[in-house]
Amino acid sequence: MNWNNFAEYYDWEFSQVCTQQQKDISMWKRFAAEFGGPILEICCGSGRITLPLADEGYEITAIDYSENLINILKSKISKSHKITPIMADMRNFEIDKKFPFAFISYASFQQLLTLHDQIECLNTINRHLENGAILAFDITPCLCEGEDSQMETLQYSLNYPPNNTVVNLFSAYKIDRLNCLKHYFDRYEEIDQSGNIKEFKHNISLREITANYMELLLEKCGFELIQMYGGFAGEKLSESSCNAIFLARKVGK
Ligand SMILES: C[S@@+](CC[C@H](N)C(=O)[O-])C[C@H]1O[C@@H](n2cnc3c(N)ncnc32)[C@H](O)[C@@H]1O
Repeated sequence: MNWNNFAEYYDWEFSQVCTQQQKDISMWKRFAAEFGGPILEICCGSGRITLPLADEGYEITAIDYSENLINILKSKISKSHKITPIMADMRNFEIDKKFPFAFISYASFQQLLTLHDQIECLNTINRHLENGAILAFDITPCLCEGEDSQMETLQYSLNYPPNNTVVNLFSAYKIDRLNCLKHYFDRYEEIDQSGNIKEFKHNISLREITANYMELLLEKCGFELIQMYGGFAGEKLSESSCNAIFLARKVGK
């Protein structure tokens, strides 16, 4: 998966179409107030959550492996912010610091497609946490339900003001039930005023995770699951929840 080509469009697209996910910011603010800083943020992207937390005075170390997204985050940091952006892979980073609170937002943990990668990531995070520290993350449950959608369908056609263009997004997806993976194939067409078309692809794959799988995985990596929610406002987790939020505490040394 390569987020670099898409980085320029990330904030714009998010503000236009990701209305459900936009509600997560107040949750991360609540968790930050409860668990305190300095905060370790994994998969920070362009700083959608990082900046609002830094605006509230939290010191944040923000990790992402996309150079372009990290550069966008850097361009938004002001003198009053205490943000340390680091370009690194969530599976194997090394920072000389321990944190009382870490989080991974917007289902980013599900981009780890194998059990091995999930364990590497959780062990790496665990090494960077203080005793009793909290790790929080949200996932999108039940990804692998339904049929494949191998025919591209138009998701949106929107003006992209920075380039004075129109961007069309066509999507398809394929479900690999054996490995609990959903592969998304997104093709973007950016059309300028003269009708010239620039095309680019942004394909991502996500791994489905169930609550009891996650509980065992956390336990294996030195965490205990302490809370699960079914929404950003603390709703109860149910079969029909569109989001699942996990809170885990580091146990042992
Ligand atoms: C859906 S975006 C979320 C960005 C941000 N957390 C937000 O909520 O807007 C997923 C992010 O995960 C990052 N990412 C994916 N795999 C990664 C990995 N192995 N290590 C570090 N970052 C990764 C991508 O570069 C991208 O910024």
